[in-house]
Amino acid sequence: MTTTFDFTGKKAVATGAGGAIGGEIARGLAQAGAQVAIWDISLDAARTKADEINQDHPDKAIPVECNAIDKPSVEKALAETLEHFDTVDLLLNGAGGSHPSTTTTPELEFFDIAPEAVQKVMDLNYLSAVIPSQAVGRVFAEKGEGAVVNITSIGGGLPLSRALAYSNGKSAADSFTRWLAVHMASTYAPKIRVNAIAPGFMITTQNRFLLTDEKSGELTERGETVIGQVPMARFGDPPEVVGCTLWLFSEQASFVTGAIVPIDGGFSAFCGV
Ligand SMILES: NC(=O)c1ccc[n+]([C@@H]2O[C@H](COP(=O)([O-])OP(=O)(O)OC[C@H]3O[C@@H](n4cnc5c(N)ncnc54)[C@H](O)[C@@H]3O)[C@@H](O)[C@H]2O)c1
Repeated sequence: MTTTFDFTGKKAVATGAGGAIGGEIARGLAQAGAQVAIWDISLDAARTKADEINQDHPDKAIPVECNAIDKPSVEKALAETLEHFDTVDLLLNGAGGSHPSTTTTPELEFFDIAPEAVQKVMDLNYLSAVIPSQAVGRVFAEKGEGAVVNITSIGGGLPLSRALAYSNGKSAADSFTRWLAVHMASTYAPKIRVNAIAPGFMITTQNRFLLTDEKSGELTERGETVIGQVPMARFGDPPEVVGCTLWLFSEQASFVTGAIVPIDGGFSAFCGV
């Protein structure tokens, strides 16, 4: 994928970037000239992604172990990052995900979902944006500029059936995006911008076998239902979120803050008839 953005000299932190979507965005940032710290709870995943990126864009990526919902871990990751980069200009909050323990099935009814499981998934999708924004946001406040992009989901706008805590956590992350945009611009500096991308259904490791059959590769019933709601009649591909994210990070979006941009093939625009 080619990009017209230029982030030469910029330093980025990308959480969850050992994974599919965050990893593609980290690659896009590196390709556009930025140096990127890949923060992931799995140091192996961070190392693998940084190696992949460095093969194509030498010395652009560093792996950093970080649990984005643990404040001491985030502070440590920031200190480690600042040893390599003298500052941070861009923050991607990409860590997040769903979990079967908070998704209803005939075997797991809503009534029986454990509150602890709900808390865990809420934290993974909400606190994962808050805590790194606190740490890196302080750097932005000191220098009077910076840009945050959160990865939420179309499930944050209208909740996805069955996926209780994931939908609710992403909804909280949408609200946080708007809250932080207002707070940073009015309290610290108008040049600190905070936006979100809300991807629709992309086929990644997390949901591949929810949407397609493991053996035949055919759509599952849920996959069929999803495609029926997407005017473009297909799933998205992780590289398709990169351009919009780089635009939100860039000077080209200098008057854009508090926006949540759907990247969903029209899913959120379609009422179903
Ligand atoms: N895949 C989709 O269809 C889709 C759609 C909408 C939104 N999203 C969101 O996009 C983001 C990335 O999703 P993905 O599909 O690339 O998932 P993924 O599972 O490929 O990547 C997630 C990464 O986050 C890391 N991670 C998990 N917990 C963490 C923590 N506490 N701290 C730091 N890192 C942690 C994992 O190790 C993994 O590398 C998530 O926030 C997800 O909710 C995905």
